[in-house]
Amino acid sequence: MSSTSQFVAIRLENHVLFIRLNRGERKNALSHDMYWTIADAIAGADQDREVRVILIHGSDVCFSSGNDLANFFNQDPGEYPEALALRFIDTLLNARKPIIAAVAGVAVGIGATMLLHCDLVFAADNSRFKLPFTQLGLVPEAASSLLLPRLCGHQKAMELLLLGESFDAETAVEIGLVNAISHESVVAHGKAVALRLAKLPPQAVQATKRLLREPLRSAIREAHDREQQYYIDALDSAEVAEALAAFMEKREARFD
Ligand code: COA
Repeated sequence: MSSTSQFVAIRLENHVLFIRLNRGERKNALSHDMYWTIADAIAGADQDREVRVILIHGSDVCFSSGNDLANFFNQDPGEYPEALALRFIDTLLNARKPIIAAVAGVAVGIGATMLLHCDLVFAADNSRFKLPFTQLGLVPEAASSLLLPRLCGHQKAMELLLLGESFDAETAVEIGLVNAISHESVVAHGKAVALRLAKLPPQAVQATKRLLREPLRSAIREAHDREQQYYIDALDSAEVAEALAAFMEKREARFD
């Protein structure tokens, strides 16, 4: 399947490819076509000499609430969020051009784990990060079970992934998920850095990215595969069914 989402705006300016998530009424939850559109744009950027840097952003009040929870009700396994996320993360993993993320407001689920695959991340002071996998009856995704402990150590990663509680921009900087907090418009800040990066010699920039990313590539794939085995089992569980029903019915989930 391939389609262009009305909820993703893509434009090229001064060698920077801007990928804007634009589904504010759903807190930029990622639908099937959004995943495909973003992945296509990133894969296309590698073939396009005009693109030197990619900037992913939402608005100044919202980055992304992660998987569209309605996706979980899709019956086609090829369209399960994890299958879509797999292609999406794979594309991030393969990207040769540096990827910058500018985060404001919520960054939940894959809205947060995708940041582990970006090269520079900036966050507004209003950012709230959350990894709510256990709360949803799910397990870590996007190789976060490998990458998060590498960033912040076992105990802190356990805390964030087991409890799934939200954390702020300062904590995100402390644990190494975010480079810096922007006190003005984070999108403008991300753009300014992207434009600076786009003026540097592109071959040196891409080689630097490759050198830092390459040693982890196979470990990331293995972690992703491991996570997926648990994830697929979890999808059919009573725990996920209860968590999703509770979200849809706007009530607290009960796991008796
Ligand atoms: N999938 C589908 N719909 C979503 C969504 C998601 N991931 N996140 C938010 N929405 C919807 C809400 O249901 C709500 O819809 P409604 O207007 O029909 O009631 C709308 O977007 C606005 O969200 P709301 O919950 O009112 O905003 P908030 O600022 O109070 O809270 C979140 C924002 C992100 C903290 C909260 O919406 C949330 O927890 N969403 C689920 C996140 C999640 O679990 N993602 C999946 C991880 S695998």
